[in-house]
Amino acid sequence: MAVQHEPEASIALPGALEPGAIDFVTANEVVQALVRAFELRDYRRGKFAETRDHTERVSHLALGLAGSVAPHLLEDPRFEYGCRLHDIGMLAVSDSVLLKRTALTPAQLDEIREHPLLGERIIASVPGLNDVARQVIGSHHERWDGTGYPRGRRGESIPLPARVFAVADAFDAMTREQPWRAALPAELALEEISRAAGTHFDPTVVGAFLDERHHTMVEAPAPA
Ligand SMILES: [Fe+2]
Repeated sequence: MAVQHEPEASIALPGALEPGAIDFVTANEVVQALVRAFELRDYRRGKFAETRDHTERVSHLALGLAGSVAPHLLEDPRFEYGCRLHDIGMLAVSDSVLLKRTALTPAQLDEIREHPLLGERIIASVPGLNDVARQVIGSHHERWDGTGYPRGRRGESIPLPARVFAVADAFDAMTREQPWRAALPAELALEEISRAAGTHFDPTVVGAFLDERHHTMVEAPAPA
């Protein structure tokens, strides 16, 4: 069969670079493009808003928590980049696994569990995303007791940015509706997180999160 080639572009795009021109793309622009790609992957599945809202919510939660337990992270934009791109490795997980509605086989579970490493590989060529962003992306599923993935790191050998993000991510996951269960009320989700301090989560980070969430809920009572 003859190979079909794309027709050559005949219209110059506004802002397009002249051949040979050099452009310097900032890390922030790379993050925006990758976040957009991640959201649009879910566009035809009708989950565009859900994916976008999760990214916004979990980033907001993680930044608020960092303000309590690790304020230096707020001065480093790479922490927010890592939060926004935490699951970018899911781009390289196959649809047959991501969209499966029945229980995953062990091999499929292994594929899902590769997403932190795949995410590290996706951002590896962007110097502005090294260190802190890579730590969130690569270690956000590690557990304090060493039973997490992908590397089975334990305790403080898990980078602090990832320990902070993991608590925010769990709270967001529990308090939003999932196809297999209703959303948990915030108070119940906080109880679950509290129970997992010292096993799943860094107990110091959990303590700061409980304090911060309780303050937030007291200051913003539910609408009448
Ligand atoms: Fe993840």
